[in-house]
Amino acid sequence: MTDALQTAASTAATSADPTTIAVAHGDGIGPEIMEATLRVLEASGAPLRYETVEVGEAVYKSGHTSGIAPESWDTIRRHKVLLKAPITTPQGGGYKSLNVTLRKSLGMFANVRPVRSFAPYVASPHPAIDLVIVRENEEDTYAGIEHRQTTEVFQTLKLITRPGSEAIVRYAFEYARAHDRKRVTCMTKDNIMKLTDGLFHKVFDEIAADYPEIEADHKIIDIGAALVGARPDSFDVVVAPNLYGDILSDIAAEASGSVGLAGSANVGTEVAMFEAVHGSAPDIAGQGIANPSGLLRGAIMMLDHLNHDRIAETIENAWLKTLEDGIHTGDVAGEKTTEKVGTAAFADAVIARLGETPADLPAAHYTDAEVSVGVHPTPRVAKQLVGVDVFLDWAEGDRQPDTIGTALQEQDGDGLRLKLITNRGVKVFPDGLPETFWTDHWRCRFVATGDAVTPAQVVALLGRLAEAGFDVIKTENLYTFDGERAYSLAQGE
Ligand code: NAI
Repeated sequence: MTDALQTAASTAATSADPTTIAVAHGDGIGPEIMEATLRVLEASGAPLRYETVEVGEAVYKSGHTSGIAPESWDTIRRHKVLLKAPITTPQGGGYKSLNVTLRKSLGMFANVRPVRSFAPYVASPHPAIDLVIVRENEEDTYAGIEHRQTTEVFQTLKLITRPGSEAIVRYAFEYARAHDRKRVTCMTKDNIMKLTDGLFHKVFDEIAADYPEIEADHKIIDIGAALVGARPDSFDVVVAPNLYGDILSDIAAEASGSVGLAGSANVGTEVAMFEAVHGSAPDIAGQGIANPSGLLRGAIMMLDHLNHDRIAETIENAWLKTLEDGIHTGDVAGEKTTEKVGTAAFADAVIARLGETPADLPAAHYTDAEVSVGVHPTPRVAKQLVGVDVFLDWAEGDRQPDTIGTALQEQDGDGLRLKLITNRGVKVFPDGLPETFWTDHWRCRFVATGDAVTPAQVVALLGRLAEAGFDVIKTENLYTFDGERAYSLAQGE
């Protein structure tokens, strides 16, 4: 990306100039709830035009393993906004998740999931929830870089980047500012993952300073997730790396009791996608009874993104009034239901209430503020090579660390010496404990005997190790950046 900040406004249009968006009608209940949603949009006067894109089950089955027809990419990239109904992912191997493909290919780094309860009109175990999970969408363990390294050991790479962390954290604060939210909570496990999660937390603290009017706090993810489950009404905006955000989204949705009413947005610097949180519900497809609310709420987020704030408010208020009046689809029907309706009748009820506001539930309010989104490269920093971690596959005899340690020490020289060996991160040589379990995966840390080493010296060491019969499975260079150690110490180092 360029350094220039891009704003959501760049995809917006004035009311005189209809915006064309891409629309995917989906599978199962998708076409029914999309029709209902588009009818509400049309009745609201939203200045939109629609171009259909083909995604989903039929596309998968026609041989496109990502579930999207090649020509659809151009349509989505041209219009920059996709309203997508749920799709059915066929069972069996070889099919890739369409959502993952779309958001990674199109750089949609932010997943935004508002979670609200609508008690007492829709029953909820936590009647006062109104929080938003802002989840990083592209990094972390979801980079999908995994390897089997030895007979016993498998690895996934967790990648957290500074540009990625800055983009998502800034988005969370921008979102909070534009939506009159008072607090942003960051959740990581930086007491354990000091470099990766530590970076995310550090970036959070840096960026929070630019938003003094918004309260900023951090919670370790384990207690944070427990609190989201137990006291979800105590959170406002929560920002987290990909994996934690994924789990938090489901905990929060479950706690609200209204997962079927939730919409979600995936936002990037160029393209954004809006949808319902639920799936294609094949069990009720074609019956005309599905609740269109999740997709409609996705569409409201889309109108907000396109800066059609007043229309977003009008539709949301009409929808809230419909719930208050007890007009409910079967999935949310309960004590407060006055009339149980199907998909089309529910949409009609919302349309009939356009212009009305809820009497009891808080009315929708969208500000004109724009949410700036941007990804910026980080200025380069001086780094120095000060050693190498060499990972070995070794399972000889009874796997005594002293045996491999002594043999490796014979390869010391040419500016590098063995400092220690760990097994699953725990120091086992020198001076390990006999109780430690030893797998066949040994991390052998060679450090510079002087200030630094050259890549050629590392390669020479690997040559000596290979010559001596060691099975090197991978290496990680040890660096300092601006003189600061840039690798974790081993437990016991
Ligand atoms: P699901 O969310 O489709 O259905 C779970 C239950 O909720 C079902 O009993 C269903 O009838 C009900 N339900 C869901 N949406 C409803 C609505 N709008 N109104 C009334 N009832 C509703 O989840 P499930 O059954 O696990 O998945 C079905 C398919 O959807 C799968 O192929 C899955 O891969 C796909 N899926 C697609 C998503 C997407 O496109 N974003 C997201 C989640 C699942």
